[in-house]
Amino acid sequence: MLSVRGITKVFGGFKAVDRVSFDVGEGEILGLIGPNGSGKSTTFNLIAGALPPSSGSINFLGREIAGSPASHVARFGIGRTYQIPRPFKKLSLLENVALAAYYGQTERPSREKAYAQAQEALGLVSLPASEHARIDGMGAAGLKKLELARALATQPKLLLADESLGGLDESEMDQAADMLAMIRDKRGVTIIWVEHIMGVLMRVVDRCVVLDHGEVIAEGKPQAVVHDPRVIEVYLGTDAGEVQNSIALRQGAAT
Ligand SMILES: Nc1ncnc2c1ncn2[C@@H]1O[C@H](COP(=O)(O)OP(=O)(O)O)[C@@H](O)[C@H]1O
Ligand SMILES: [Mg+2]
Repeated sequence: MLSVRGITKVFGGFKAVDRVSFDVGEGEILGLIGPNGSGKSTTFNLIAGALPPSSGSINFLGREIAGSPASHVARFGIGRTYQIPRPFKKLSLLENVALAAYYGQTERPSREKAYAQAQEALGLVSLPASEHARIDGMGAAGLKKLELARALATQPKLLLADESLGGLDESEMDQAADMLAMIRDKRGVTIIWVEHIMGVLMRVVDRCVVLDHGEVIAEGKPQAVVHDPRVIEVYLGTDAGEVQNSIALRQGAAT
């Protein structure tokens, strides 16, 4: 579905993303992980069209999209969330999501259809779809769900989710992970999940790509990646045993 080949992003003289290549197959959940500053959000922004790559190619469903503006990329079928949610605070939840449905699709829906799609998206993330539900007083977990609903309302084929777990407690993190898996299963949406918290993510991703200093240092199934010496050295460090055990335990629980 998505094929990223040798993308590089240079800021001034600094390579934030350095010849990164990976593929994502239809229906997959790919985890894009790495320490802070390793180039995850920049990679994400290159795919979403928020930034043009300095070089390299990004092919989505047979179309070259590298350098296409974000508004086009959204209409080609790539939805995204933002690490820092910035909803329209004076609008209701429903209005926020309906706006995404209205402006984020190739064929502009009718007003009624945009609202129906917004209600469906809010239902998927278990947020209230009534006209009266407001943003005021929503916590971090609710705002992250709203981000997901706004992205889903654009009816994406590929969903890019950035740091969905930041600011959540442990049970909220587990719920967020389950929610992404459920969205993939119910909607058939392919997902790239960018995250620096590894343990929870590993439970639901099919495969992961690990970045360090802008370069891919490992790629593969979670069980293999957490035993990769380079990943342990630059990323897991003394947490390696804990993450390895939690994955083994969770897999045991799932079977
Ligand atoms: N617009 C920018 N201008 C200059 N440097 C940037 C810019 N965006 C990101 N960087 C730098 O690129 C590196 C990678 O950043 P980022 O992709 O945000 O990392 P991550 O999401 O993995 O934490 C960091 O060193 C960051 O400071
Ligand atoms: Mg980031």
